[in-house]
Amino acid sequence: MSTVRKPIGVFDSGIGGLTLVKALVEELPSESVVYFGDTARVPYGTKSKSTIVRFSLENVKFLLRFDVKCIVVACNTSSSWALPTLRKYFKVPIIGVIRPGAMAASRRTRNKKVGVIGTRATVESRAYETAIARIDPAIAVSSQSCPLFVPLVEAGWLNGSVCRLVTEQYLDPLNQQGIDTLILGCTHYPLLASTVGQVMGDGVALIDSAKETVAEVRGMLMSQDLLCDQHAKPRYRFFVTDEADHFTQLGEQFLGRSIRSVERVNYR
Ligand code: DGL
Repeated sequence: MSTVRKPIGVFDSGIGGLTLVKALVEELPSESVVYFGDTARVPYGTKSKSTIVRFSLENVKFLLRFDVKCIVVACNTSSSWALPTLRKYFKVPIIGVIRPGAMAASRRTRNKKVGVIGTRATVESRAYETAIARIDPAIAVSSQSCPLFVPLVEAGWLNGSVCRLVTEQYLDPLNQQGIDTLILGCTHYPLLASTVGQVMGDGVALIDSAKETVAEVRGMLMSQDLLCDQHAKPRYRFFVTDEADHFTQLGEQFLGRSIRSVERVNYR
């Protein structure tokens, strides 16, 4: 197969990376995708750096079986801790979600006060702070981990009083910091954008790292002459490490379209 027609590999700790695949399908509709969700070992956001790096290395090895032309680390937690190691061990281009999100937030802020929300591991890594400081050291970054957001989204509680209360509890400190830009630094959070937007108010711009990352993927593929032509018919394949049924049902909400087949793999 010509390199151009090879699929893009995407991995996540579970289902959440489908928000990135949604953006990929919308923005690059001719590209084929192989998605790998490590549903047996999710969440990554509560785990240590060494575990997150080990899992991420295994996930890349799995995707390389499909001769992918590049790999997108959809998971913010993996991107935060594992990206340098992945790039050290593998030759294939690997794109994470942190830098694109940081770039977009840096472009967007007017008052140079940016907030970041993510899993505990992402916030502890300070990866967004580091990336933003490289772009513009004058930007002040305030971070907040929101551990209840992932289970809320997976339970489908995207609105309503409980969701609103939890969101206020997490985001009030960021509101008090006077941020004007907030990075949704977790795969699941775009589904909470409406509640987060209400709590933060109109004056705060929400940055979806997944969308920004797809723009970076496009740029990388164009610069390497690897962008699929507009007439190519894409193929989407989904692999998970735990039961496929649950992934299919919930995944359709994340992806916003039906998922035809999901294969369960035992890749060790
Ligand atoms: N995919 C993870 C992320 O974006 C959230 C779920 C998890 O904790 O594994 O950080």
